[in-house]
Amino acid sequence: MSVARQLKPNIYSVGAVDWDRRLFDELIPLPDGTSYNAYLVKGGEKTALIDTVDPTMEDALIENLKRLEVKVVDYVIANHAEQDHSGSLPKILDIYPSSRVVCTPKCKSMLMDLLLIPDDKFIIVDDGETFSLGDKTLWFIHAPWVHWPETMLTYLREDKILFTCDFFGSHLATSELFVTDELTVYEAAKRYYAEIMMPFRKAIKKNLEKIKDLKIDIIAPSHGPIYNKPDFILNAYRDWVSDEVKNEVVIPYVSMHGSTKKMVDYFVRCLIERGITVKQFNLAKTDIGKLAMALVDAATIVIGSPTVLVGPHPNVVYAAYLANALRPKLKFASIIGSYGWGGKMIEQLTGVITNLKVEILAPVVIKGFPKEDDFRALDRLADEILNKHKECNIIKSEG
Ligand code: FEO
Repeated sequence: MSVARQLKPNIYSVGAVDWDRRLFDELIPLPDGTSYNAYLVKGGEKTALIDTVDPTMEDALIENLKRLEVKVVDYVIANHAEQDHSGSLPKILDIYPSSRVVCTPKCKSMLMDLLLIPDDKFIIVDDGETFSLGDKTLWFIHAPWVHWPETMLTYLREDKILFTCDFFGSHLATSELFVTDELTVYEAAKRYYAEIMMPFRKAIKKNLEKIKDLKIDIIAPSHGPIYNKPDFILNAYRDWVSDEVKNEVVIPYVSMHGSTKKMVDYFVRCLIERGITVKQFNLAKTDIGKLAMALVDAATIVIGSPTVLVGPHPNVVYAAYLANALRPKLKFASIIGSYGWGGKMIEQLTGVITNLKVEILAPVVIKGFPKEDDFRALDRLADEILNKHKECNIIKSEG
């Protein structure tokens, strides 16, 4: 969908809404589609386009620029080199040959590698550098690792708009230009944070600190609706990147013949009875985005698996690998499950989650269907989790 709309006088949204996309990077589910936002800023003397769109939607961007009768684009600001924002740059540079790409030094080298854009098309900007468009000033803020190393933010000083590209974005196709339904956007933005930003939590903290004194009326990301109440998303990010964890246990599991399922069912009841929130995911059916979101806040993960060919079930390995890559702020981990005649499930699974800075609590991996002693072992694991959460003030901190 292409509809050019005005945010403020001489500032337009000119990107595209992709209602149909259901998978990103051939990995990430997009239950609600997405958008590739681009913005046109017309100054008294110069015109800038901030980011472009995914190459699959470049016709929408071009149509929007035509409708606005844009004859000249002096600068294309590339906040990020990933192709869902930069992929239409070559086409834009064909249409507006005098245009120059403005970006960080790292972004320049990535755009040359990824899109074969020639060296003489670039203007490099330092952190804190400003550009005048006449009556409007663009201020460039280097913000590495949200979520690639070359990323920057662009602040339009006179209008107090921060263009953040992926930072604060949400994969959400909507006809609304601004956030109207905060609950829906919160869910989509949290999913986006969990899948894309969480591995860079510490870098994001620094970047939040860097912009804390900016006067921001509008945050305009390059995915999802625009925030005209920026505190909504700034506070959400502050919460997600904080070191605080919640009194929650995430249980991703698979069961083939019911033994592990019986253990999971019993164990979930034990945790709930102890006042602990549980988020249970059957990995045979789970949307991995939901699992990633649950990992944003939880204190503990308990992985449930049967033994397959001496190791964990492959779906469990996948989920553990993903959790390891996403680096949530978990504090504790354990494993429960069952085997028929033996195996190395515990060693293999703990070997997959080495990035997680967790204390491993004694696993409960049993032979066959759970029996009385096995249920007592699950009781003890639930007690240990409760005690650990108390020791770390996780329960107290929730009041
Ligand atoms: Fe939306 Fe990192 O690209």
